[in-house]
Amino acid sequence: MDVSIEGARMHVAVLGAGSPVLLVHGFPFSSSMWDPIARRLVEGGYKVLIPDLRGFGKSTGVPATALGTFTTDLLGLLDTLWVTGALPWVGFSMGGYVAFDAWRRRPNRISALALVDTRAGADDDAARAGRSATAARVEREGSSVVADAMLPKLFAPAASASLRQAVHASMVAAAPAAVAGALRAMAARPDSTPTLPTIKVRTLVMVGAEDAITPPGDAEVLAQGIPGARLRVVKDAGHLSPLEQPSAVAEALLEFLANPVKPRR
Ligand code: MLT
Repeated sequence: MDVSIEGARMHVAVLGAGSPVLLVHGFPFSSSMWDPIARRLVEGGYKVLIPDLRGFGKSTGVPATALGTFTTDLLGLLDTLWVTGALPWVGFSMGGYVAFDAWRRRPNRISALALVDTRAGADDDAARAGRSATAARVEREGSSVVADAMLPKLFAPAASASLRQAVHASMVAAAPAAVAGALRAMAARPDSTPTLPTIKVRTLVMVGAEDAITPPGDAEVLAQGIPGARLRVVKDAGHLSPLEQPSAVAEALLEFLANPVKPRR
């Protein structure tokens, strides 16, 4: 369905029935990156909410240049969908950065966190400069700049040619203005390391064993920093573990979600 939020037309897939779970996609992807996981969660009795972040997928609106804009959109979306109270947030990579921002702003809307192939640290100066230069190139030359640069880093060697091609095509199709905006937003994100000890909800940290973008070392920092967090390393997966090993990722999420969600105060 499409809903108007903060001047954007947000597309959100609402699938299944049961207790709600929010899935937040990464960069420069869309809600479709969650398709195989969503099917399993729906079969497992969950109502899955999968938005396209502003400017990505079927969502339109002025591109975000701060991650907080995505958070504001998501909180508005939950209100519009009458999802009151707290629910589990699953954030993949940039979606994890957004989840940290949401935790700082509205922890009462988060009952559990699954952080998938993401990291707490901010960009260093070189990474920031790289993102800024890439954003300018994307505005001139299109999203294939990012698609071509990211493709070799996204997968474990076992990933099929057809998956690589489909993911490349989806990145090329991303709107250049949204891609450039998100690059600037990620470059400007704060260090979330000080946030980690404040996270009081049950947390699952998941990472592809061969993730070259947010490597297992980053996941260990998350799992060690968040009190009581569990770490799952997904075999034969790179950064795109939800697409490379959907069964393993979905089963880990189902097991995590099945446990009673109790805040640890
Ligand atoms: C993502 O998958 O969301 C991005 O690779 C994250 C990043 O570039 O930091």
